[in-house]
Amino acid sequence: MPLKCPTLSFFLVILIFFPLVYSQQPYEGLHTTDCANTYNSSSLLGYFCNGKSTSCTSYLTFHPNSKNTSYISSLLHVDPSHLNNTDLNSNSMLVIPVDCSCSSGKYQYNATYSVRSGDTPFKIANNKFQALSTCQAIINQNLPNEQEITVPLRCACPTTQQYNSGIRYLLSYLVSSGDTLSGMANKFGINVDSVASANNLALRDTIYPSTTMLIPLKTKPNYTQMSQLNSTPAPPTPRSPAPSPSSPPPSPSSPPPSPQTKNKHVAVILIVSAFGAFLCICAAGACCWRMARTKQISTSKCASITN
Ligand SMILES: *[C@@H]1O[C@H](CO)[C@@H](O)[C@H](O)[C@H]1NC(C)=O
Ligand SMILES: *[C@@H]1O[C@H](CO)[C@@H](O)[C@H](O)[C@H]1NC(C)=O
Ligand SMILES: *[C@@H]1O[C@H](CO)[C@@H](O)[C@H](O)[C@H]1NC(C)=O
Ligand SMILES: *[C@@H]1O[C@H](CO)[C@@H](O)[C@H](O)[C@H]1NC(C)=O
Ligand SMILES: *[C@@H]1O[C@H](CO)[C@@H](O)[C@H](O)[C@H]1NC(C)=O
Repeated sequence: MPLKCPTLSFFLVILIFFPLVYSQQPYEGLHTTDCANTYNSSSLLGYFCNGKSTSCTSYLTFHPNSKNTSYISSLLHVDPSHLNNTDLNSNSMLVIPVDCSCSSGKYQYNATYSVRSGDTPFKIANNKFQALSTCQAIINQNLPNEQEITVPLRCACPTTQQYNSGIRYLLSYLVSSGDTLSGMANKFGINVDSVASANNLALRDTIYPSTTMLIPLKTKPNYTQMSQLNSTPAPPTPRSPAPSPSSPPPSPSSPPPSPQTKNKHVAVILIVSAFGAFLCICAAGACCWRMARTKQISTSKCASITN
């Protein structure tokens, strides 16, 4: 029994959107410290809810900087028991489990923070929370002048594609100076391609200190601290004047994303669309050819389908 055109088209549509469904999380580089950039169709506001599940256990890295247990557990809103057996005076990073969940299309883990005088969304996201949040996300989810604010921490759940390749957890890793994709892969004992792919990066792409990246893990980390991750994060520099807490959230008509990010997205979309269009034309041609042969349709109708 020959495949009918509508059925074929349905499968084609699925096929065309297949790469989008399985696309992983874009790495935003220094855009996350560019507070004036409100291009919210990127992952600046949080990683997209494109995972297999709407909630999962994920992991955060945090540099203790000699802070005490009560400070860190209350800042990150985590149980102090997760900080047991850690050396807060050491120069190594904590690995802390959190419940990541989807809200308004973005994965996040909510911390709350009491704003003090002198705090800006930039300082809160990058200095207090060590780039686990972004100023854009903080501005987006809080009203101006609020004292107790929600700080959405960046986390994500594995996509179906990652899940099928054995990945069960994503760890939000704070990039330190000197880190490279292959160096990070070595630290975690994983394949460099899976790190690059989890962040939609090519192996030659640049990564920046004081930004977060996703590390795909097949097993729960059995460490609470990673002594081999012992580099000190460099203090981030604002890319633009950070808005003060009293300033209103930027309007949606703010500057578009820089050409770099935009071009990357456009290129991906173009390739996917071109591939889709190519498949469509091939299939429509094949479909018509088959129909014409079985004389269910006149050749003139065929021409109108392929057009
Ligand atoms: C923990 O550190 C904070 C400031 O960082 C301080 O106010 C607090 O008293 C300390 N708590 C303990 C138990 O040392
Ligand atoms: C871990 O932390 C919890 C809560 O702070 C405490 O009750 C427990 O005794 C600690 N366990 C160890 C092994 O230190
Ligand atoms: C996190 O905070 C957002 C508001 O900023 C809220 O919509 C969401 O439900 C919260 N998530 C959880 C798990 O509480
Ligand atoms: C963690 O588990 C792996 C095997 O899954 C083992 O090789 C490694 O030694 C463990 N590390 C620690 C610190 O226990
Ligand atoms: C982007 O943000 C603006 C203002 O906060 C909002 O109106 C718009 O719906 C958002 N768009 C997306 C795709 O989230």
